[in-house]
Amino acid sequence: MIEVEHLRKVYSTKGSLLNRSQVHAVRDVSFRIPEGGAISFIGESGCGKTTVGRILAGLETPSAGIVRLDGVNIHQVAARERRNLLRKIQLIHQDPYQALNPAYPIEQALSAPLRIMAKQKGDTPRTWIRDRMEEVLTMVGLDPASVLYKYPHMLSGGQRQRIVIARALTVEPTVLVADEAVSMIDVSLRLGVLRLLRDLREKLNISLLFITHDVAAARYLGSGGQISVIYKGLIVEQGPTEGIISRPQHPYTQALLSAVPVLKGLERMGADRFILAKEMNAQSAAETGCLFADRCPFAQERCFSEAPTLIDGDYQYACHFPEVRQVAAVAAE
Ligand SMILES: Nc1ncnc2c1ncn2[C@@H]1O[C@H](COP(=O)(O)OP(=O)(O)OP(=O)(O)O)[C@@H](O)[C@H]1O
Ligand SMILES: [Mg+2]
Repeated sequence: MIEVEHLRKVYSTKGSLLNRSQVHAVRDVSFRIPEGGAISFIGESGCGKTTVGRILAGLETPSAGIVRLDGVNIHQVAARERRNLLRKIQLIHQDPYQALNPAYPIEQALSAPLRIMAKQKGDTPRTWIRDRMEEVLTMVGLDPASVLYKYPHMLSGGQRQRIVIARALTVEPTVLVADEAVSMIDVSLRLGVLRLLRDLREKLNISLLFITHDVAAARYLGSGGQISVIYKGLIVEQGPTEGIISRPQHPYTQALLSAVPVLKGLERMGADRFILAKEMNAQSAAETGCLFADRCPFAQERCFSEAPTLIDGDYQYACHFPEVRQVAAVAAE
């Protein structure tokens, strides 16, 4: 199980001392994913989704906050133990082509992490590596004999993404972070990869953090799990997937959901329309009020002076005037 508490990440942008500015990539994000559970992050570009994923995978250090894996704070253990813990959290990159070295056959991509494991285990026979490669390829629905000696460019986008997933599985992870994992592959192949991630979650009891722009994908993968809606590095609404999709309370969630009016189950949202204004400056939000107030069609005076806090519970939202609205919003480009 993975638990994240009050994660925060501030980047200082380069520049002279005088014009150096700070980017609040992640302001306050807390969540937990039980074994075999799933959480989907949805939110606009730049809201901090990838940053959270990279922190979990150990590629960034948080400015504040706690990440616990099976009860152990991964930033409070010795480097060696941290490496072992971090191996349990594997990141699946959005672009499978970039994630695989074009100069090496698939066999190399898969055996590299296994050789490191074999070394740690002592005198593991070569057949162990071979067997494990075949095992993970079969798990992701590929025929080992027909892909092992091919190069990445000889495979389809869907196959390449399956190889990337297979490589993540070689080290027996307990958490997968799939960051826009299907956005770069052909639409016709997406459902297959989503189905694979869902199966892995169920069969291997893997916890899944699924980062996406696609609410339909979040719904498909996250059934029985949770959705976190993120705005400017803050969770504004979080709760059971089905609840968030059928009865969103926060105007931002409503806008995100109804930007995909064809989504099955949302058809009834046809009553009103509201336009979500284009954001003026991602980082300029007033620090005193609600970060969403300047774009919110329902904002009132209080929203500009007092920041709403996320109320505790299974279903959380940060809004002074929550209301289930039957809206069909159009998110302006
Ligand atoms: N290394 C960095 N240095 C400075 N700023 C950064 C760095 N990495 C990310 N940021 C900034 O942090 C914010 C959050 O970025 P992040 O990549 O996490 O967003 P995202 O939600 O994944 O967006 P997208 O949907 O486009 O992938 C952005 O404003 C981004 O420009
Ligand atoms: Mg991203």
